[in-house]
Amino acid sequence: MIKGIDEELVAAAWDGNAVTWTEHVRAGFDRYRELFTWPAFVGLLPEGRGLEVIDLGCGEGENTRRIARLGARMTGVDLSPRMIAAAREVEASEPLGISYESGSFARLEGFADASFDAAVSTMALMDNPNLADAFRAAYRVLRPGGTLTFSVLHPCFMTTGAGWLRDQDDRETHLTVADYFSDTPDIEHWRFSKAPHDTVAGTEPFTVPRFRHRLADYVNGLADAGFRIEQLMEPRPGEEEAMSHPWLRRWRRHAALVLMIRSRRPAE
Ligand SMILES: C[S@@+](CC[C@H](N)C(=O)[O-])C[C@H]1O[C@@H](n2cnc3c(N)ncnc32)[C@H](O)[C@@H]1O
Repeated sequence: MIKGIDEELVAAAWDGNAVTWTEHVRAGFDRYRELFTWPAFVGLLPEGRGLEVIDLGCGEGENTRRIARLGARMTGVDLSPRMIAAAREVEASEPLGISYESGSFARLEGFADASFDAAVSTMALMDNPNLADAFRAAYRVLRPGGTLTFSVLHPCFMTTGAGWLRDQDDRETHLTVADYFSDTPDIEHWRFSKAPHDTVAGTEPFTVPRFRHRLADYVNGLADAGFRIEQLMEPRPGEEEAMSHPWLRRWRRHAALVLMIRSRRPAE
């Protein structure tokens, strides 16, 4: 585990974010999700209706519900009890057969070995110190042949010291990367930057402990747990999206914002 920030602090931070996060995600203010991370992620998911799928770090359940609507039987796990409470509220009013549990994806206590056909995780594994444990726990609860598909902020570009250089018209021309090898977790404060200004003005930014796992930590962590990597994706916004939303262009032209990996527990 990275020293300095433990899971208790991660849980408290996300409990603190839960009300605003829930409101803003459900209002569609996470424009990156809507415009390119979700469409790319769907393309990596295993096909087949009725698969039993566990969502690691499900938050208030937005993507869990989307995957359930595609035909999967979903279970969501999150460290933050308030996120789980928000997810359960929707399940109570618009049931999709999803069960939600509070707990850590680094342990998956209470889940039997080989009990899921697939595991997914969207933008959560970089928010936790125990990456190697998370891969081992996912491997344990997957049936042989099952897949783990996840997205994270791209570890090579979204480093602690990353920043943009801009031209005289304020257009991003280069991404600068620094402190890739930093072992120190940090706490980021941010809002969904494309949310309407009048809506976010009165809200506190999110407090997000961030762990700078490196590319090798993802690849070797999967391999050490026993997974075989099937596909690695660095999604880019499409040309049309980048034309209609100029703030997306930098992620089409200069660097990858997100890393996605589909891996498999080998069939026995
Ligand atoms: C950025 S949010 C993403 C939520 C959701 N996957 C989505 O895409 O909307 C990250 C989530 O990971 C959860 N998380 C962090 N560490 C965790 C852990 N060890 N076990 C379970 N959830 C965890 C946080 O509580 C938070 O809800």
